[in-house]
Amino acid sequence: MSLSPKRLVAGNWKMNGLKGDLGEISTLAQMVTADVAASVDVAICPPATLLSLAGAAVAEAPLALGAQDCHAAVKGAHTGDISAEMLVEARARYIIVGHSERRADHHETDEMVKAKAEAVQRAGAAPIVCVGETLDEREAGKTLEVIAGQVSGSMPLDGPVAELVVAYEPVWAIGTGLTPTLEQIEEVHTAIRRQLLDKFGARAAQARILYGGSMKPDNAADILTVTDVDGGLVGGASLKAESFFQIVRAAVEAR
Ligand code: PGA
Repeated sequence: MSLSPKRLVAGNWKMNGLKGDLGEISTLAQMVTADVAASVDVAICPPATLLSLAGAAVAEAPLALGAQDCHAAVKGAHTGDISAEMLVEARARYIIVGHSERRADHHETDEMVKAKAEAVQRAGAAPIVCVGETLDEREAGKTLEVIAGQVSGSMPLDGPVAELVVAYEPVWAIGTGLTPTLEQIEEVHTAIRRQLLDKFGARAAQARILYGGSMKPDNAADILTVTDVDGGLVGGASLKAESFFQIVRAAVEAR
């Protein structure tokens, strides 16, 4: 489809990374040349403590930074939380919301995820809204129903659709080395696209739908050529610049 959006490959470092690991971001910043960035958007989401320092490391590179969560409010009495505005000030261009680890560990509901996604848009960044079924849900044949519910419950309604990113991450594929078949990925991605088109009209062709869950250098090329897969959200394989960049390269070549 000629209107398909520019691919995005985003790395999610989760709760990994101390100052000593910033060298990986500097190395990546050297690998992501203007040529690479012309065909694929690349982002790395380190822990919030490293954002400002990483900002210096990527200052001259077309490599974006992102954060992994935010609070829905602008500011206030929310001890330990960080607002989207604060993250944007620290150079976050993307903010992941509704990751399954947050939905599980912090009991985040679709409603909370939607409020966070709206906060990200309010702050001028792009939300990466995560959805995904558990293994039980898949085995019960409920995958499409679960995903449709999460998409309709957690998607912000008013912001710029071209800046909207959805990440389909089957919970059972995250950090396990397991991945769905390409057919299963396509089934979910095309269903999400249809749902976005229903909700937002033709503009939804510009929203990006990423696949995440054990994406690695050796499976990225296949996954990235699946219909309606507009990039990847990469956990474990993003911690090292070398392996992450192999996935970025696969995205460049998948065009
Ligand atoms: P993984 O994590 O690549 O380590 O499976 C992906 C994610 O949770 O975003």
